[in-house]
Amino acid sequence: MIKSKKRIVIGMSGASGAILGIEILNILRENCDYESHLVISRGAEETILQETQYKLDEVKELADRNYDINNIGASIASGTFKTEGMIIIPCSMKTVAGVASGYSDNLLLRAADVTLKESKTLVVVPRETPLHLIHLRNLVTLAESGAIIIPPMVTYYNKPLSLEDMNRHLIGKILDKFGIEVNGFSRWEGK
Ligand SMILES: Cc1cc2nc3c(=O)[nH]c(=O)nc-3n(C[C@H](O)[C@H](O)[C@H](O)COP(=O)(O)O)c2cc1C
Repeated sequence: MIKSKKRIVIGMSGASGAILGIEILNILRENCDYESHLVISRGAEETILQETQYKLDEVKELADRNYDINNIGASIASGTFKTEGMIIIPCSMKTVAGVASGYSDNLLLRAADVTLKESKTLVVVPRETPLHLIHLRNLVTLAESGAIIIPPMVTYYNKPLSLEDMNRHLIGKILDKFGIEVNGFSRWEGK
């Protein structure tokens, strides 16, 4: 019997940190047990171009499947489509607000809404600074609804030497929520 791959939905929205979404896609691409289902917001299209060397099509090609942000009839819009969950990376404050209010007017927001309603793992990687009270309240709403909030914060105990080291540690923490090991992710084993 052919074992089907586990699916993870990746939503990239227009917060700074497009490279984080790209790194996750690269890691999932190397993992033969998983397939990535990608939806990119209009905002993320902009940040990919502004912040990275990647062309939009190159990012899309990293995923096993791609969806148009306006295609609200896509498979990932339905709770019956089997997935392990979803990661929104990076997550803009607009997308945080959309998920927190259940205002699912694009496929990324709808896929996140479905992930929550089906009680699957939703990891949100919100990026903005400073955060005002509305941002914080929306994040609390997400946490209360079961989402896991992993802001892209720098860790120092692993003694990162580069931005790549820091990104990899963050991605290790995120994929840990799905039981996926990331090479180069160093766990604290105590003194
Ligand atoms: C280069 C660039 C960086 C941005 N960085 C952030 C950010 O870090 N956090 C954020 O919430 N919005 C940021 N924005 C603004 C969002 O892209 C914008 O609010 C957009 O409408 C979000 O829509 P989306 O969530 O559908 O992608 C940035 C925009 C640009 C062009």
